[in-house]
Amino acid sequence: MNLLSLIRQRFAPALSELVPDVSPLLDMIRPAQDAKFGDFQANFAMPLAKQLGKPPREVAQQVLDRLDLSDFCEPPEIAGPGFINVRLRADFVASRIQQIAGDDRLGYQPVALPRHVVVDFSSPNVAKPMHVGHLRSTVIGDAICRTLRFVGHKVTSDNHIGDWGTQFGMIIYGYRHFRDDASWQASPVGELARLYKLVNQLSDYHATTAKLPLLQKAVTEAREKLAQLQAQAVADDKVKKQLSAMKKDVTTADAELSAAVASIARIQDSPSLLASANAHPDIARKAREETARLHAGDPENNALWNQFLPSCLEALNQIYRRLGISFDLTLGESHYNPMLPGVVESLKSRGLAKLSEGATCVFLEGNAAPFIVQKTDGAYTYATTDLATILYRRESLKADEVLYVVDKRQSEHFQQLFATTLLWGISGLKLQHVSFGTVMGNDNKPYKTRAGDTVGLESLLDEAISRARRIVDENDDRRETPLLTPEDRARVSEIVGLGGIKYADLHHSRDSDYVFDWDKMLATTGDTATYMQYAYARVCGIFRRLQIDRTAMKTQGVPVLLNTPEERRLAMQLLMFGYAIDSVLNDYRPHLLTAWLFDTADAFSQFFDRCSVQNAESEELQKSRLILCDLMARAIHTGLSLLGIQVAEIM
Ligand code: ARG
Repeated sequence: MNLLSLIRQRFAPALSELVPDVSPLLDMIRPAQDAKFGDFQANFAMPLAKQLGKPPREVAQQVLDRLDLSDFCEPPEIAGPGFINVRLRADFVASRIQQIAGDDRLGYQPVALPRHVVVDFSSPNVAKPMHVGHLRSTVIGDAICRTLRFVGHKVTSDNHIGDWGTQFGMIIYGYRHFRDDASWQASPVGELARLYKLVNQLSDYHATTAKLPLLQKAVTEAREKLAQLQAQAVADDKVKKQLSAMKKDVTTADAELSAAVASIARIQDSPSLLASANAHPDIARKAREETARLHAGDPENNALWNQFLPSCLEALNQIYRRLGISFDLTLGESHYNPMLPGVVESLKSRGLAKLSEGATCVFLEGNAAPFIVQKTDGAYTYATTDLATILYRRESLKADEVLYVVDKRQSEHFQQLFATTLLWGISGLKLQHVSFGTVMGNDNKPYKTRAGDTVGLESLLDEAISRARRIVDENDDRRETPLLTPEDRARVSEIVGLGGIKYADLHHSRDSDYVFDWDKMLATTGDTATYMQYAYARVCGIFRRLQIDRTAMKTQGVPVLLNTPEERRLAMQLLMFGYAIDSVLNDYRPHLLTAWLFDTADAFSQFFDRCSVQNAESEELQKSRLILCDLMARAIHTGLSLLGIQVAEIM
């Protein structure tokens, strides 16, 4: 059991003798911030005092009078204005450690009431290469699946790929007009990616050329306004503010114009691209028409779609294999295509969807924009597909809960989707948008290559591994006798490189944007996977040098001694594993697990500095310390594995 829940459970009856609603008060019992206040702290005295109309210290005492924790805690103490400090008894901590020493689950009991949770994650639009933006959903979603499974829920991971969107019209058009047969034979995926890029480039070229006069006008106007303002030359604060705002406008307009000019130049500088562009002036519209034909069931376009899809999936799977990530289902948007007319009919018949300016829309209170389920041209939307998907997940998969691990920029879509689902009458299904921020570059803009392209995921993984290789090589070369063969080094570099990328993503609170930073990510100290992996390898090293089999520790049942603050802190950290896991699942926040891992590795490092294992004063003490070491290693192993990160015995 989660220790904090145990404490809260004990407080509950004591509090309910005093007030009717105890749960907000129980929430105010937390792990103590500082060990000198004990292990847990109850901070509810103030609000309780208000309710009872008595001084906080007095109500704290009233609670203590009704509370008996003596079977596992020291007598609780009241501090300051009425905080209650709770400290676990040393013998309790030691016996708990002994109990879980033989347990790979670190004492975590599976839940009594498992739910069936569908986790919709990764979900890229196929036919274009995956890029850094796809990393977050993939890594966060995978960590959530693993953690849910660990605690005993039934999980269906579903990669809701975008396999039915406008990009297919683009590659169908590209395939018809620009296909290179030899490349297609050699690598269909590579050829499809090239065709997608080409059609995109040519469409952009025409759109940008058409927009150019407007951009030029914007620059001229912004410059004129700036000049006028500068001519006023009265340096009061208001003008200064306007001036700096205007300067920014000029910079933005300039930047937009030069980006447009540069992208036009990229086509014009290449005679073959320019010839293609000129030969296909309507390319964007025609590609859209190909998509419409695909959706309308045109046999030729459907045959092409069937021909393309396996290669697209293979390209994705290549990345998932490298990342060690798999899905129970990859149904994708196309799977729901036959259900879409029925969804719109059902919404209409319930009076939920109405015709508005030719489109069929659901109007939701508090939303300026309607939720469009069928466009004027008859096309169904992302929204329609998502509604069909919910129906399928509820009725066919019998899900109790669906999590959408999707970029926070889609939060309005999900808010409307969930509201519509409720009105539609689908009940018993909990829906949550597990949203996340953007991966940024050092310039605090979305992470791009120097040339301004999105960063391909494949090359990102390659770079992580090759950077990790340098670290692994250096480390092993420093040893008197290197321990790793070239094969080992390659394997460890994968573990370190991929672990580094995943951890860097997961240790940020998911809603915030984060800056992608190679050096920080692979640093050997600090809040990184490498640091945890080192702690693990260090323990393996201790056992290796003492020539003791680590697996033997599990069954030894020797007493655990916790006489120094460092040993006690490490033991407490290990006992808080359950609390960390429960906190992650509370609102699907894997960074609460990385925080626990970091604190654990840190507690270990202090323990290791102060408490010698090799030269312990007695054999009994050495054994006890070895149990702590082994348990710490297993804690790191288990914790990292829930994040999809591996460990190595020697690094
Ligand atoms: N394919 C979508 C995109 O790339 C994400 C899909 C997320 N899942 C969903 N059920 N809407 O933006």
